[in-house]
Amino acid sequence: MKITVIGTGYVGLVTGTCLAETGNEVICVDIDQEKVEKMRSGVIPIYEPHLDILFDRNIKANRLQFTTSLEEGLQHGEIIFLALPTPEDEDGSADLSYVLNVSEEIGKKIKSYKVIVDKSTVPVGTAEKVYSVIAKNASCEFDVVSNPEFLREGFAVDDFMKPERIVVGSSSDRATVLMQKLYSPFVRSGNPILIMDEKSAELTKYAANSFLATKITFMNEIANYCEKVGADVDKVRVGMGTDSRIGKRFLFPGIGYGGSCFPKDVKALQKAGKDSNYDFKILNAVIDVNVRQKTILLPKMEGYFKDDLKGKTIAVWGLAFKPETDDIREAPAIDMMNGLLKRGATLQVFDPEAMPNIKKQFGDTLQYSESMYDAVKGADALLICTEWSIFRTPDYAKLRELMNDTVIFDGRNLYNVDDLKTEKFTYISIGRKEIQ
Ligand code: UDX
Repeated sequence: MKITVIGTGYVGLVTGTCLAETGNEVICVDIDQEKVEKMRSGVIPIYEPHLDILFDRNIKANRLQFTTSLEEGLQHGEIIFLALPTPEDEDGSADLSYVLNVSEEIGKKIKSYKVIVDKSTVPVGTAEKVYSVIAKNASCEFDVVSNPEFLREGFAVDDFMKPERIVVGSSSDRATVLMQKLYSPFVRSGNPILIMDEKSAELTKYAANSFLATKITFMNEIANYCEKVGADVDKVRVGMGTDSRIGKRFLFPGIGYGGSCFPKDVKALQKAGKDSNYDFKILNAVIDVNVRQKTILLPKMEGYFKDDLKGKTIAVWGLAFKPETDDIREAPAIDMMNGLLKRGATLQVFDPEAMPNIKKQFGDTLQYSESMYDAVKGADALLICTEWSIFRTPDYAKLRELMNDTVIFDGRNLYNVDDLKTEKFTYISIGRKEIQ
C-alpha cells in the first residue's frame, strides 16, 4: 500500500519505518530540511534500539523516502498518518495547532480519496475537528480515523511490529477495511484490531497512560509508607503483583515517572475533564504525588549530609527518564540535579546515551564523566536516577576505592539491600530499610 507519514518525530519515524518493513511504500514528510537531508543519507535523528537496521534496509529498498513537500506526500499515500506534536499548552491541555494547520493544508491539496489517520495523542473530539477543518476545502472524499500509538521508548520497534492490540476509531467501512488490511501483517499472532468509534479510541490512549501512571504512583505511595512502618516494598510488590488481577508490571516504585507521554497525557486528561465539568480527583493526586516523588531523595541526602550539601561532590548515574533512551523530557534526574545544584553541590554525571541532551540543557553547570567509574572519582555520594543495565552489577571494590565516602542513594532500587550491607555501603533506596 502507499502510505504517507506527516511528521518524523519519534512516533512518525517508527511508524513509517515499520510500515515500510511489511512492504508498503512509505513517504515521510517533515518541514525540517536539514533533518530530511540527513534521513535521506541514512542518518536516524533519534536513538531507538533496533530501528537502525529497519531504517537502513527500507531506505536501500526504496520503500522509505523523505520529503519536505507536503504536496508530494499527499499525492503519494492513500493512507495519510498525522504524527505531529501535540505539546502541552500553558493550561495543561494538548496544543492542536500543528494537527489542525496541517489538516487545513490537506483539505486544500488532496485530489483523490484519502484516509487521514490521527496517530498523535489527541483529546476526545479531535477526529471530529480534523474532519471539519479538512471538509472546509476538500474537493474529494476522505475519512478521518483515530489510531493511537502505544509505543514505549526503547521498545518501540517491538511494540509496533508485535502489538498487543491495535485501536482504530473509525465510523467509515471503507476506511476500516483499509486499516485492517494495513495492520493485518502485525497481528498474525491473533492479537486484536479493535474497531470502535473515534472518541472512544481517542480516550483509550489517555485512559491507558493515565492508568499506568496511577499504578506507578500508587506503588510510590506504598513505598513511602513502607519506610514509615518498616515494611519492604519489594516484598509487598511481589505479594501484590502475583495476583493476576493486579499483575506484576508497572509496580516498580522509584523517583517518579517522566518521559514525553505520561506527564503530558495525565495533565491533558485532567484538563479535558475540567473542560467537560468533570473533576478527575484521582489524576489531581497522581500529578501531585509524582511532583513530590521526583525529589523524594533530596531530604534524605540533606539528612545524611546534615543539611550541608554545599561543596559536596555527588556522582549521578542515569539522566534519561528511563533506560534505553536518550530522552530527558520530564526526567526525575533533572529535578534531583536542580535541587542539588541549588544546595551548592558539585555534580559528576554519567549516562550511556543522554549526555548530549543533558549538556544542551545544563551547559557547564555539571561535570560530564566519560564512564560510570569516572563519575564516582572522589565523590561524597552516588545518586542513581535511571536503571540502565550497566549500573546493575557494579564493581563494589572499585567503587569503595574511588569514592570519598561510600554512600549510595538509589532512586530505582537496583541492588539487594543485604548485598550492599555485606559490601559495607551506606545504602538508601525507595521503600526499603536503610543500611547505615
Ligand atoms: C509510555 C507508555 O508505556 C506507552 O504505551 C505510551 O504510548 C507512551 O508512554 P514510555 O513513556 O516510553 O511509554 O515509557 P514507559 O516504559 O511506559 O515508562 C514511563 C515512566 O514510568 C518512566 O519514567 C519509568 O521510569 C516509569 N516507571 C515505569 C516506573 O517508575 N515504574 C514502573 O514500574 C514502570
